[in-house]
Amino acid sequence: MTKRTPLIAGNWKLNKTIDESKALAGAIAAHVGAGLACEAVVGPVATSFAAVKQSLEGSAVGLAAQNTHWEDSGAWTGELSPTLLVDAGCGYCIIGHSERRQFFGETDEGVRKKVGALLVHKVVPILCVGESLEQREAGKTLDVVLGQIDAATEGYDAVALAPLVVAYEPIWAIGTGLTAKAEDAQEVHAAIRGRLAELKGQSWADSVRILYGGSVKPSNADELLSQPDVDGALVGGASLTPDNFIPIIDAGVRRAES
Ligand code: 13P
Repeated sequence: MTKRTPLIAGNWKLNKTIDESKALAGAIAAHVGAGLACEAVVGPVATSFAAVKQSLEGSAVGLAAQNTHWEDSGAWTGELSPTLLVDAGCGYCIIGHSERRQFFGETDEGVRKKVGALLVHKVVPILCVGESLEQREAGKTLDVVLGQIDAATEGYDAVALAPLVVAYEPIWAIGTGLTAKAEDAQEVHAAIRGRLAELKGQSWADSVRILYGGSVKPSNADELLSQPDVDGALVGGASLTPDNFIPIIDAGVRRAES
């Protein structure tokens, strides 16, 4: 079986001033140091990129953006581009988060274009997919999630898509304290990997990290990460304090070493 390096990513969403961001990033960097058996990434707001980058200096912790436009530059008021993310030191970018799809009108086609633009600029896309409670209760989870996977990867081959990371985030589990049961998460993760294999080949699918997101915390991280297809976590609320995020990174290390 392909050994995938676990990835623990923090999505800070719309939280933290520059000084607060520096302090949090510094604490995480001190823990991770020059490297651990798992990868760790933080996603601050864009106004803190420079400060966080400085705090991460000398550590293996990566910097992620929470969104991007697909164009490099031009008349797009309020947007950031992959070129600017690279310039700011971001090696990763979250895209298609359900909050962006729900509240900012992000479409499957827009997400697809963002995947392509990030790949061109060698920024790792962390592609979020997930179903609502209504969709889950109607038995449509796999239709929705696999449909989002199909749409986001259409037109790109396995070579271009090599760095892609997928994050399965059931919308009903985000910020609610409700977590998918580990077996339910595994079922969806396995289905995602199966679809990736059908679309672009088994060997690529075996290499793709599929993260789980939705109320991940120190007390449930090990159980989720013990599932064969759960390769890491995309963490919201619990990524905002070192006391919560560091134990989740440690759970990623345990997975890597298991
Ligand atoms: P919570 O961990 O706060 O549920 O958020 C998950 C999430 O949306 C990460 O992108």
